Amino acid sequence: MKIAIGSDHGGYELKQQLLAHLEELGHEVRDFGSFSPEKVDYPDIAAPLARAVAAGEYERGLLICGTGLGMSIAANKIHGVRAACCSDCYSAKLTREHNDANILCMGGRVLGIGLAKMMVDIFLSTPFAGKHHEARIAKITELEQ
Ligand code: RB5
Repeated sequence: MKIAIGSDHGGYELKQQLLAHLEELGHEVRDFGSFSPEKVDYPDIAAPLARAVAAGEYERGLLICGTGLGMSIAANKIHGVRAACCSDCYSAKLTREHNDANILCMGGRVLGIGLAKMMVDIFLSTPFAGKHHEARIAKITELEQ
């Protein structure tokens, strides 16, 4: 699967660990930065990644900051993005099934690597459930007009 990953300094360490995990699984991953633990503003990472996911260049995106919250707020400004900030496996699964989320946001200062890896695996492997959820997603898309 083609995956985009990015973080600010608050998510840098977790991003590096998840990047290694994804590459080990054989995914094609583009790292949108940051490329060092130096301080960086999360919207500067979220915007190009979110645009690339919305354009269909990547099937899924992963964004990590200290809490995951700033990344999700920024990414959701881009039309076509449905970014979900999650801290548990149930939400990571249901945001795929019900919301057809295309970006998972996580907190590097919130999650351990074991849970984060499990959530990412679930997020990448769970399909959208469709049916009555389609109409709800269409209503979200209408809000963008
Ligand atoms: C950076 O200190 C922190 O504000 C950022 O990583 C993120 O948690 C924002 O939502």
